[in-house]
Amino acid sequence: MNAIINDIEIIKTKTTKINDVDFDDLKFGHVFSDHMLECDFKDGKWHTPKVVPYAPISLDPSAKIFHYGQSVFEGMKAYKDNDENIWLFRPLDNFKRLNISSKRLAIPELPENYFMDGLKTLLKVDSEWIPKKDGSSLYIRPFVFASGNGFHASPADAYKFIICTAPSGAYFAGEVRVLIEETYSRSANGGVGFAKAGGNYAGQFYPTQLAIEKGYQQVIWTDDNTHEYIEEAGAMNIFVRINDTLITGPTSDRILDGITRKSIIELAKSENIPVEVRKISVAEVVEAARNGSLKEMFGAGTAAVISPIAGFGYKNEDFDLPELEDTYASYLKKRITDIQTNKTEDPFGWRYKV
Ligand code: PLP
Ligand code: COI
Repeated sequence: MNAIINDIEIIKTKTTKINDVDFDDLKFGHVFSDHMLECDFKDGKWHTPKVVPYAPISLDPSAKIFHYGQSVFEGMKAYKDNDENIWLFRPLDNFKRLNISSKRLAIPELPENYFMDGLKTLLKVDSEWIPKKDGSSLYIRPFVFASGNGFHASPADAYKFIICTAPSGAYFAGEVRVLIEETYSRSANGGVGFAKAGGNYAGQFYPTQLAIEKGYQQVIWTDDNTHEYIEEAGAMNIFVRINDTLITGPTSDRILDGITRKSIIELAKSENIPVEVRKISVAEVVEAARNGSLKEMFGAGTAAVISPIAGFGYKNEDFDLPELEDTYASYLKKRITDIQTNKTEDPFGWRYKV
């Protein structure tokens, strides 16, 4: 039956796919829930979103997304607790970042209520799709792209904002080894590195494929100017632990201002873990790996959560991280996921009830 919540029309699917999904064996972003949110920008404004059955969309071949890559996205997760409450983690930060990305790509910014009410309505309609198993969640992908037509290299006059969701397990299937990049760059000063622009990811695929062929899962990008400083990985920010100090690089217009990253910094500080936000040179990390003071490296992101890094490669040399019993990575991961899934107090006010 169709309904309207928060002015949002809901057109329900006649056939659910949920019974085909093995919730005990979820990959990342592989199966999609029954519905999606769809919202159009035309005639100079965003129009009220609708929840519709998840289905292919039709676009003109001259739509500017195909030619000029005007597209931005977000990554979020929804969790369900044992009382069937649905939780999000700092969703307003994702909304704000989507608009920051949009602005840089000359895409019209979205009104907050279309994003938030649209997302909440979608989650309520597809609430059965939110996994409860530890380590699983409903991955949420909001995105905006140019659906307007024309070969003129200028911003489109029409856009689509869509949110689709995927019940998901871990992003990395196994051990994570990273290659510290010394040739290619992900982003440059004054560029779009801070935005979650689709093209930032396309540009990483070729160098990442080369790294995968050498046995690594991700590239750690270094600054484009000198390749001497660690910036971030393909899908996550990077932390290193030297002796007892947790260090991460500062954000800039080349780096995504990760929500997991800033939460870890706040959480670690509140637990009296020494934290430094400063430039990290590759030479410092290599030296620390050689002299044994490099205790941990991990990636942080919505999809990756906190992913320990087992080793890294640099200039044809491989370095292994020690296998410690008690790591910051496992401690902080438990703290943060307990907050996200409503298993513990949330002194920071990060959890958001849908
Ligand atoms: N860096 C990049 C390039 C990413 O794609 C992501 C994932 O969103 C992150 C960092 C981590 O950001 P967040 O913690 O907000 O998901
Ligand atoms: C996320 O962590 O949500 C991201 O957007 C990273 C993506 C490449 C999976």
